[in-house]
Amino acid sequence: MTEENAAIDDLDDAEDGIDDTGPRPVAADERRPSLIADDVHVKYRVFGGKRRAHTEPGGRLRRAFNRSQRHVGAVTEVHAVKGVSFVAHHGESIGIVGRNGAGKSTLLRALAGLIPTASGKVYVDGTSSLLGVNAALMSSLTGERNIMIGGLALGLTPQQVRDRMDSVVEFAGIGDFVDLPMSAYSSGMSARLRFAISTAAVPDVLMIDEALATGDAEFRARSQKKIEEIRGQAGTVFLVSHSAATIQRMCDRTLWLDEGRLVMDGPSDEVISAYKAAVRKRSGRR
Ligand SMILES: Nc1ncnc2c1ncn2[C@@H]1O[C@H](COP(=O)(O)OP(=O)(O)OP(=O)(O)O)[C@@H](O)[C@H]1O
Ligand SMILES: [Mg+2]
Repeated sequence: MTEENAAIDDLDDAEDGIDDTGPRPVAADERRPSLIADDVHVKYRVFGGKRRAHTEPGGRLRRAFNRSQRHVGAVTEVHAVKGVSFVAHHGESIGIVGRNGAGKSTLLRALAGLIPTASGKVYVDGTSSLLGVNAALMSSLTGERNIMIGGLALGLTPQQVRDRMDSVVEFAGIGDFVDLPMSAYSSGMSARLRFAISTAAVPDVLMIDEALATGDAEFRARSQKKIEEIRGQAGTVFLVSHSAATIQRMCDRTLWLDEGRLVMDGPSDEVISAYKAAVRKRSGRR
């Protein structure tokens, strides 16, 4: 199955989504802003790429001359997020959709302050925590050590982490595996532990990057409850997912990114159907 087909498959899930109550009414403007993105640009500099012949200055002689430097490679700039602006409010849960490489993960990292913006500003009211499929857990360490490190990274004290250890392990549902190195975990188990760690301290802004996709149905239900809990405490949730059904179930508002730009920002149903239409049109053209 090609990626594009897989994406459409995911999108089709939306039609038979579990929840058909539709999006909740949004009275966002009456709420307090929790996060403001103001014309955010993010650029990556990539070192060590192979220099293309036509990008190399000078003629063949010059290139031959420079051969000794060639292993250094070219510096390529990837402009991953291009001028994204929006205002998120307390209690809102916001989905982010877009093709592979659209800039979704990059935007989340920038919103969480993990990577610098090239220009533009991000204002956050309170603490933020990014939960990603690539979150920095160490596979050679046990689950317990990772919970400690993750908890400290969230700003908890060692004693606070110890107090919450049991509930994190229980929420992750990993049982005795907590004493084994994470390299012995299945990918679903790691994802569950990551989610459990990042919600050990309830952040004001929780960002989730596709982490729910790897969990099983029972864990998805549990994490959905946790998300509701965070929203209930007036927190804000961002959720990046390729599953339209998940976004429609969990988010009342959705941002659609394409090639680093914010194409649409509105109620999930409207944005998802516009996105679906664009995906269909694109795959029809092929
Ligand atoms: N660490 C990095 N160094 C250089 N370029 C990067 C890096 N991470 C991402 N990019 C580039 O930035 C752009 C946006 O990538 P990003 O990972 O944000 O996309 P995405 O929307 O999350 O995609 P996916 O759906 O595949 O997760 C892509 O062109 C990608 O190649
Ligand atoms: Mg991504």
